[in-house]
Amino acid sequence: MQLKDSLAAAIAGLTAEHVPSPRLNAELLLRFVLDCDRAYLFAHPERELTTDEESRYEAALAERARGVPAQYITGHQEFWGMDLIVTPAVLIPRPETEHVIETVLELRTTDLRLQTSDLSDNEPKVRSPRSEVRIVDVGTGSGCIALALAKELPQAEIHATDISSTALEIARANAARLQLEERIQFHPTNLLDGLHPSFDIIVSNPPYVGESEEDQVQLEVRKFEPRSAVFAGPTGVEVITRLIEQAHAALRSGGWLVFEISGTIVDAVRELLSGWDDVRVIADLQSIPRVVRARKSTTRPVATPTQHP
Ligand SMILES: C[S@@+](CC[C@H](N)C(=O)[O-])C[C@H]1O[C@@H](n2cnc3c(N)ncnc32)[C@H](O)[C@@H]1O
Repeated sequence: MQLKDSLAAAIAGLTAEHVPSPRLNAELLLRFVLDCDRAYLFAHPERELTTDEESRYEAALAERARGVPAQYITGHQEFWGMDLIVTPAVLIPRPETEHVIETVLELRTTDLRLQTSDLSDNEPKVRSPRSEVRIVDVGTGSGCIALALAKELPQAEIHATDISSTALEIARANAARLQLEERIQFHPTNLLDGLHPSFDIIVSNPPYVGESEEDQVQLEVRKFEPRSAVFAGPTGVEVITRLIEQAHAALRSGGWLVFEISGTIVDAVRELLSGWDDVRVIADLQSIPRVVRARKSTTRPVATPTQHP
């Protein structure tokens, strides 16, 4: 069958199966099978597909029709201009998470203390001699946040944690592919357990969906993305509550906590951060609260957040 006929049949098939954006998905999967760019599809409409190409295309379309995200079929997702490997062991990096990177980079340019790494005398000097800022990405998944920061901040000392060792394997593989493996220290651990404190910045896209709102989550996410990456517990703030507590202990005074949230939990998060300084909520392009940044107070004690089981 010719390329243009295969593509037309695929679009019709995905449309009939109610797959969103059928043309986009049909083109993406054909590009994956032929290992070509989009321009090639339009430059060679009469190219005959081999039997092997046809059967691989059919298999990919069948996977997509049963709801498997295209990224798990192709094994790739773009984030911050980087091509990342993704498998069902990791959350597919979302474009909204790029606001987390922008927020950290903005701190680097606006916060004088971060530019000078001006540690007070009673704080342990644990950073490596050449690093100007010490950062940890908690719950790194594919490694997208840690990798973007390693790319943007060549002098930073970067750590990344995840409770899932399979996720960390993917993050390490991505670091190796991008030749950033020397830049990131990976830790299989629960949040910040066992890490040497005194970070300048703690960054995270933690699980923040409540089990009580499970039926509002897209079926594809619920069925195919790792549950422990999406759901935090009954209310959605369980992991964030522990992260805020641990971050307070692990940040140097005046250090920053930056993490992703949703509109559903923004009020609860503000309350958990009472006692922190300079709390600011940043909205995404849909005007949904998406990132919170807060500075560990240099003076006042922080109120202990409400304990969750
Ligand atoms: C929402 S995903 C974010 C992944 C990646 N940072 C991103 O932005 O695409 C949350 C990640 O946190 C990890 N995680 C969940 N609970 C954790 C915990 N208690 N300690 C460390 N990592 C955890 C999950 O395995 C998952 O990789």
